[in-house]
Amino acid sequence: MSPEWWRNAVVYQIYPRSFADADGDGVGDLPGITGRLPALVELGVDALWLSPFYRSPQADAGYDVADYCDVDPLFGSLADFDALIGQAHRLGLKVIVDLVPNHSSDEHPWFQAALAAPAGSPERARYLFRDGVGPGGNEPPNNWPSVFGGPAWTRTTDADGSPGQWYLHLFDTKQPDFDWTNPEVRAEFLRVLRFWLDRGVDGFRVDVANALIKADGLPDVTSDAETNMMSTILTATSGAGDAIVHSGPTSPMWDQDGVHEIYRDWRRLLDEYPGDRMMVAEAWVSPLSRLARYVRPDEMHQAFNFEYLSAPWDAAAILAVIDSSIAVNDSVGAPTTWVLSNHDVVRHASRFGLADLTLRPNGIGATDDQPDAVLGLRRARAATLLMLGLPGSAYLYQGEELGLPEHTALDDDLRQDPTWMRSGQLERGRDGCRIPLPWEADAPGLGFGPTGRTWLPQPESYSALARDRQVGVNGSTLELYRAALATRRERDLGNGALRWVPSAPSVLTFSNGPVTVIANLGDGPVPLPPGELLLASGELVDGALPPDTAAWLVG
Ligand code: NOJ
Repeated sequence: MSPEWWRNAVVYQIYPRSFADADGDGVGDLPGITGRLPALVELGVDALWLSPFYRSPQADAGYDVADYCDVDPLFGSLADFDALIGQAHRLGLKVIVDLVPNHSSDEHPWFQAALAAPAGSPERARYLFRDGVGPGGNEPPNNWPSVFGGPAWTRTTDADGSPGQWYLHLFDTKQPDFDWTNPEVRAEFLRVLRFWLDRGVDGFRVDVANALIKADGLPDVTSDAETNMMSTILTATSGAGDAIVHSGPTSPMWDQDGVHEIYRDWRRLLDEYPGDRMMVAEAWVSPLSRLARYVRPDEMHQAFNFEYLSAPWDAAAILAVIDSSIAVNDSVGAPTTWVLSNHDVVRHASRFGLADLTLRPNGIGATDDQPDAVLGLRRARAATLLMLGLPGSAYLYQGEELGLPEHTALDDDLRQDPTWMRSGQLERGRDGCRIPLPWEADAPGLGFGPTGRTWLPQPESYSALARDRQVGVNGSTLELYRAALATRRERDLGNGALRWVPSAPSVLTFSNGPVTVIANLGDGPVPLPPGELLLASGELVDGALPPDTAAWLVG
């Protein structure tokens, strides 16, 4: 792979607990991943990103880390990790791991030491402990809400049983935020980065990269609008773009200018290592011009493009976000990234089937309006073909290559995302996009593991979509992805340049090198542009491109 491989890479996100289970306990694990790597080579991706597999009580599915330099026994051991990365590299796949620097688990030894130490101690100075306000300090230090619902502060109890200080957690109670103004915290994360770099990782996906620094004095959030938006970070009730909310330099907890010097330090460290190690920011920051600050030449290499993910199925909206994404990234010399699904959002095969195209609900339950599965998949396939035709780097989420829908009828009693309880059961949360993958239609647990156990039940629709039902089947979603990825690589589309071709308002047409990409988001069929048809996301009708379909042509 070329130097600066990340500039055009297609990165496949593995959510370890739901990818493949080798030991049969119903939860995916690292040996399970290693065993299935050949399937990813066949798919044709360049790199893997592994969501957290570190020691953790799993209060937020591993985004609550108790030991940053060890593997949770649920997922295996460090030796299993070494085996995984060794095999991935032999197969030509790069490996990116998740880094969770904003908060640890409350079971991290530092937080336990902080609880045992008095107010004002160096142990407490690694986190954000504050006295409460009002009589008896009974009120939280400020009005910040947690992303998962409820207040962002939890009160501690002193050794003598009396109520003590409060600590800040932008997410769950079990995820206390570090104080990143403390040099000890900075030094510790440089150590963590070195630990994984020395083990050979090719990069890091940096969790909530826009949250590490908070405004001096932790001032109240002032506008209602912002408070409301805060709790919709992973959710979204409004139109595309507005939903992306941890943004704005006016917010006291998101996107503070001080975060950038942290990434410049990390970049210097990564640059000491051979082999183009990279970082990708998970930062729900808007507008895109603010996001571009994370990918300036001496900071991170990439940032997820959530504005693209949030765009509704509407040609004008998609065109606008593509143009602005490329423009802002070009302005700092970074590649644009594209993404449609991940472990925090409703899978795009379901999202695009919702009646209201501006909705981005945080999970869908059995009693909610159900997406149109056929329409959703049709649009999802078109959206993917459009995305993979764009220059830059693309992120895929495990299972989208099978066209998996969200599990929209999961029993509420089984939900594990902390959002469900913390929101007072108002937000279903993210379990529906985290269902164990179907590998073999006729095997117990659809081949997820050897025992048939799965930590969440798979919906009935997953059987027909199992991987073995799609391999070699003309027109299957898996074969569409494989063909698109192979063509993208052959034609070097990731390194190309986009040029719009004038089209009807509901049609998107652009060229990328020799390839013309067309997507029909309108209501009627449209003629294909000149050229030889390479790929289409659905059957043509009388030689024309039907609604909700995309195609690639050459020549
Ligand atoms: C973003 C992660 O993607 C999400 O899954 C997690 O809950 C939060 N950050 C907190 O770490």
